[in-house]
Amino acid sequence: MAVVGSGDASYRAAGGEEGLVRLCTAFYVAMDTLPEAAGIRAMHEADLSLSREKLTVFLAAWLGGPNRYRERFGPISIPGVHAHLAIDEDERDAWMLCMRHAVADQPWAPEFKAYFLAAIAFPAERIRVTSVARRQREPG
Ligand code: HEM
Repeated sequence: MAVVGSGDASYRAAGGEEGLVRLCTAFYVAMDTLPEAAGIRAMHEADLSLSREKLTVFLAAWLGGPNRYRERFGPISIPGVHAHLAIDEDERDAWMLCMRHAVADQPWAPEFKAYFLAAIAFPAERIRVTSVARRQREPG
């Protein structure tokens, strides 16, 4: 396996766009069905298709592939798009649980699965910290 994290090696290890469509489909199926995810599911629209599409193109760029998120939806700040949501440890952990289920379904190398899950935990934690800070600034 090429060194993950250099160039588009991670994007390729994930199976490119097709692989990320599979991942994000499995991720939102998990969110729709796992009882632990009911709280974060309720934060989303009834129809998850736009969320699935946005997460797919975002992750492509995040893994070093083409930046179709910017082409289609413009610039993004990940903590910024979540700042209006109340995200604490339970919500962060539920999101990570859905991602662990989705990753387990993928035909990826075990090393890449572990790398991906460890890496995505960083933005998830940053979203929580930003959400807590916003609520401390604007109580109620
Ligand atoms: C920490 C737990 C997280 C929760 C509870 C959460 C929840 C949500 C919700 C409810 C939305 C829809 C927002 C709305 O339309 O109002 C959303 C959008 C999105 N999330 Fe998350 N999220 C989390 C973590 C992440 C992480 C770690 C990433 C990627 C690294 C991510 C990527 C995205 C993207 C790309 C969108 C679409 C943004 C847009 O263009 O509107 N999320 N998330």
